[in-house]
Amino acid sequence: MPGPSTHPASGPRVLPGTGRTAVVTGASSGIGAATATRLAAEGFDVVLGARRMDRLTELAASMGARALPLDVTDPDSVAAFAEALDRVDVLVNNAGGAFDANPVAEADLDSWARTYEVNVLGTVRLTKALLPALIASGAGDVLFVGSTAGLVSYEGGASYTAAKHGVHTLAETLRLELYDQPVRVVEIAPGMVRTEEFALNRVRDQDRAEAVYRGVREPLVADDVADCIAWALTRPHHVNVDLLVVRPRAQAAQHKVHREG
Ligand SMILES: NC(=O)c1ccc[n+]([C@@H]2O[C@H](COP(=O)([O-])OP(=O)(O)OC[C@H]3O[C@@H](n4cnc5c(N)ncnc54)[C@H](OP(=O)(O)O)[C@@H]3O)[C@@H](O)[C@H]2O)c1
Repeated sequence: MPGPSTHPASGPRVLPGTGRTAVVTGASSGIGAATATRLAAEGFDVVLGARRMDRLTELAASMGARALPLDVTDPDSVAAFAEALDRVDVLVNNAGGAFDANPVAEADLDSWARTYEVNVLGTVRLTKALLPALIASGAGDVLFVGSTAGLVSYEGGASYTAAKHGVHTLAETLRLELYDQPVRVVEIAPGMVRTEEFALNRVRDQDRAEAVYRGVREPLVADDVADCIAWALTRPHHVNVDLLVVRPRAQAAQHKVHREG
């Protein structure tokens, strides 16, 4: 008698996220929303966090996931969010943004503080709160959505590049500190991604926001980044993607963008 078949097509396919809970911050738009959607399709139990509950609730319902209010800059909000979770296997630290494009000579310190608060302090705050659960999972993942702005600097970008350099350092440090724990630390650093709100939040003018992507045939879109995130998270757990830099083909380097027309 032949033994049980080991052919991969012999049983129902088990989705890679089955049995794992993934928290995605900043899931009400852009990369966070695309990542939540993608992880739900990969079988994860997804918990979406952000401030705009109307958008979050609708999105969560569309994928059979859970929506919880979260303001990463507010300690009480983070504590309540952490309290509401039974288990966490994956934390995608995506909430963030850029809020000005000023040269240093015209630095708006309130904008610097806001940028640092959400991108760095907010990320540390939530990571710290969920770390015990991530370690307890036995196969945890902390993924940081950094940026190429965390690896190089550019004129007019210092409030954001300084913050994203902070995120990069945070990821590196945490990976070192958790070297003997069952938790992977992953950083995804996208270049130019065309999302609805990112550039608009930064320059606060629709035309200037559109100019960021003008002539670039195919900037990345949120789904492209979600694809990279899902790929990194669904490797076997001994495979740690430390840092994945992803750009559109038209952006050979931060300052070298091919524009047509
Ligand atoms: N677009 C790009 O070119 C690009 C490139 C590289 C890296 N990134 C990074 O990718 C991430 C997502 O960017 P995106 O382009 O998807 O921008 P986005 O559409 O503006 O999304 C930002 C998300 O963060 C949430 N958020 C903001 N402040 C928050 C807070 N205090 N607490 C909780 N959530 C908060 C927002 O939701 P609420 O307002 O509802 O809270 C929103 O869902 C950011 O970290 C960004 O720096 C973007």
